[in-house]
Formats: sequence, C-alpha cells, structure tokens
Amino acid sequence: MDLKSKIHTDRLPKHIAIIMDGNGRWAKQKGKLRVFGHEKGAKAVKQVVEGCAELDVKNLTLYAFSTENWNRPKLEVQTLMKLLISSLKKEIKTLHDNHIKLNAIGNLKALPTKVYNELLDVIEITKNNSKRTLTLALSYGSREELTNAVKQISIKVKNNIISPEKIDELIINQHLYTQNLPDVDLLIRTGGEQRISNFLLWQIAYTELYFTNVFWPDFTKQHLYDAIINYQKRERRFGKTSEQLS
Ligand code: IPE
Ligand code: IPE
Ligand code: MG
Repeated sequence: MDLKSKIHTDRLPKHIAIIMDGNGRWAKQKGKLRVFGHEKGAKAVKQVVEGCAELDVKNLTLYAFSTENWNRPKLEVQTLMKLLISSLKKEIKTLHDNHIKLNAIGNLKALPTKVYNELLDVIEITKNNSKRTLTLALSYGSREELTNAVKQISIKVKNNIISPEKIDELIINQHLYTQNLPDVDLLIRTGGEQRISNFLLWQIAYTELYFTNVFWPDFTKQHLYDAIINYQKRERRFGKTSEQLS
C-alpha cells in the first residue's frame, strides 16, 4: 500500500521532532554491541531527513544526545561522538540536495572540540539553504535550557533592559535555543518508551505525541508516513470545543 499518497499535503506538520530511541535494544536483540545500533541509527536519520524533504516538511528536529547521556559508559559516548563527526561529513550532500540548513540546539560547548568544530562547519556550509531546517539536539536538556533562559532574563532585569512586568511567553521563547523555530506540531518517539526524557518541555505544550515500538534503526520513510497520517486524523482543539473549530 502506498502510504505516502494518503498524506494530505495541505495539512502537513510544520515542525516534526523525533526522540530517536531504541538503538541499544535493537543491537542487543541481534546479539551485537550497543554501538552497532548507533551506527545503524545514522542510516535511519537519512531516511527521515529525505522523507521530510520529499513531503516538504519545513522543520525537523532530532534528539541525538541528551545532557543525561553524558553519564553513559565512556566508550559509548566516544563512539557516539565519532559517529556524529562522520555522519555530518557524509551528509553534507544530502543537506544541499534537499535545500536543508543545519541548526543545532543544546549546550554545544560541552561537545568535544572536534565535534563542535565539525558541527559549526556544516552549519556554515549549509547556511544559505533556505527551504528547510534540520535541527540536531546535542548535549540538549530542556531543564538546562529553561534554567539558562531564566538566568539571561534575570540579568536583563537587573540591568534594566527588561522590566519584570514585561516578561511574557514571547520573551521566554526568545531566550530558548529554539527561538527561531515554530512550535512543534508532531513529536515522535521510537523504541517503545512513553516518556519525554527532558526534551523540549516548554515547546511541546500543544504538540501531538506519537509513540511507536519500532526501534530507531528500523525506522523508515513508511513509518514516518504512518506517524503523519495518524497526526492528520487528530483534531487539534487548543482548548476550544469541536464545534468552535468547524
Ligand atoms: C537512542 O538509543 C540513542 C541515544 C540515546 C544516543 P538508545 O541508546 O537509548 O537505545 P536503548 O533505548 O538503550 O535501546
Ligand atoms: C532520550 O533517550 C535521548 C535521546 C534519544 C537522544 P534515552 O534512551 O537517553 O532516554 P531514557 O533514559 O530512556 O529516558
Ligand atoms: Mg534509550
């Protein structure tokens, strides 16, 4: 069955975010090391990046490494960082071919220098691609992001740049890493867990959540289509009644 043809192109999510989970369990199931799962996971990234571009979803945000993931075994962290560098290098053409600009959110300064520099390079190289944005959440934690926002706003209040009465949702948004991105319409989590794991807490206030048991390395364009079709069947009421919407 051709799932793609079931998608209404006039009602696409403007912003899809994905918690790419299940690499380790995927590998374990196959009697392999966890890092093997991460390698295969990089292939699934290509699938969704191309899938979103083909449909013309403007914004895709991928949770690649959380602030909590620093607590994993050193070897796993090192492998993930190496994979990041090699995938970034390898996929520059994919980004150009699909008119995608790379963006990154998170405490990027915490990344190893090599990863940080490679990331900045690819951001620079793709900055004129104006049709779509791929955002990587790296060393990202939503609580840390919000804590930083509170700090920055407090400093501005102290220096009389903002008055406390003027603090509103827009100002808070402007102090988040995601300041230039639209709200997330659809959040997908693979790997079977139904939790948020410190991802975009503020930004997903009205996001549609979609959980699937598929492990990330097995995730394909068809699974992406499934998620979008499911999203398009939902009625987003934003607090209103159904009657008010029609
Ligand atoms: C997601 O897969 C990748 C990262 C968090 C970096 P996991 O490595 O969390 O895989 P599971 O959840 O243990 O199977
Ligand atoms: C969330 O997955 C982080 C990423 C996908 C990058 P985790 O595997 O780290 O989350 P928990 O520990 O199961 O909540
Ligand atoms: Mg996991």
